[in-house]
Amino acid sequence: MIDDVIKFPASPAGLYDPLRYMMQIGGKRIRPTLCLTAFGLYGGKPGPEVLSPAAALEVFHSFTLIHDDIMDRSPLRRGMPTVWKKWNEDTAILSGDVMLIEAYKLIVKAPAECRSTVLDLFSQTAAQVCEGQQYDMEFEGEESVSMEQYNSMIGLKTAVLLACSAKMGGLLAGAPETDCEALYRYGYDLGMAFQVADDYLDAYGDEKVFGKPIGGDILNGKKSWLTIRALELSSEPQAFLGAFGRECATAEECKAKIAQIKGLYDELGVPGQARSEVRRYSDMALEALKGLRVDITPLREFADKLVGRAK
Ligand code: IPE
Ligand code: IPE
Ligand code: MG
Ligand code: MG
Ligand code: MG
Repeated sequence: MIDDVIKFPASPAGLYDPLRYMMQIGGKRIRPTLCLTAFGLYGGKPGPEVLSPAAALEVFHSFTLIHDDIMDRSPLRRGMPTVWKKWNEDTAILSGDVMLIEAYKLIVKAPAECRSTVLDLFSQTAAQVCEGQQYDMEFEGEESVSMEQYNSMIGLKTAVLLACSAKMGGLLAGAPETDCEALYRYGYDLGMAFQVADDYLDAYGDEKVFGKPIGGDILNGKKSWLTIRALELSSEPQAFLGAFGRECATAEECKAKIAQIKGLYDELGVPGQARSEVRRYSDMALEALKGLRVDITPLREFADKLVGRAK
């Protein structure tokens, strides 16, 4: 539904084709879906003034992925070559830039009565995502990152956008302020669950389903949930860091490194704990909705689907 309101300029094709490509190769559309689900709780039918800001969330998200894939040197996204791989880095930078602007062109189509609130929320969120991405990169080079630091980093890079999506649904529906805040909380905790699940799937998922290369976080030296937890649990954290930081030159060596690190995670019971953490955050998300007087079944179903995801 939201794809119908997304239309990028035709030329120059070299600039806009990567945007069309990103939207066409797939993606779960969870952010606009969350926004429209929250909107739907209040009984309205979404017209173009609601669909456009919902679409802006997906366009913005896809822009962050284009730049994230340069930063993470990732060759695969949504099961297809990433923009910087298919074209080149310059294209990925500039097409990403203009995609952010396309997101703004959609967000300002929000109804006049909530436009400025929606715009403020969106801008604040967009800046926070950049802050989170900065911490994500900085943590790669740091030896010890605490779970607290990790949580605040993923809160910024991932959770605030889900929070913004849920709250925006409430704002567009004219929901009471307390409901909008509860929706924000719900989206935030769900976003935390979502990123821990992403970290888990990055090591334990099925590449064909997940659409991203398995073991990418390990090869990048990312401080993922799995790494942080392994460092907390290990009796020899320095030995773990030694193995984690070792360079691999050939595809063979990289494969061996991924297997070795996963072996260490397995010994410590990290994957099972990651799955429990996903459930804990998702339970917290539902807890946040306790005070709402609308039927929250669609949001419960949405959370259940995210917890069980394999892609
Ligand atoms: C990937 O988001 C980036 C994260 C925040 C983990 P999604 O898993 O929603 O990616 P798509 O849009 O479905 O490809
Ligand atoms: C990125 O986190 C979240 C963004 C804000 C783009 P990741 O780097 O883990 O996302 P994936 O795994 O590449 O989708
Ligand atoms: Mg990243
Ligand atoms: Mg990435
Ligand atoms: Mg990831």
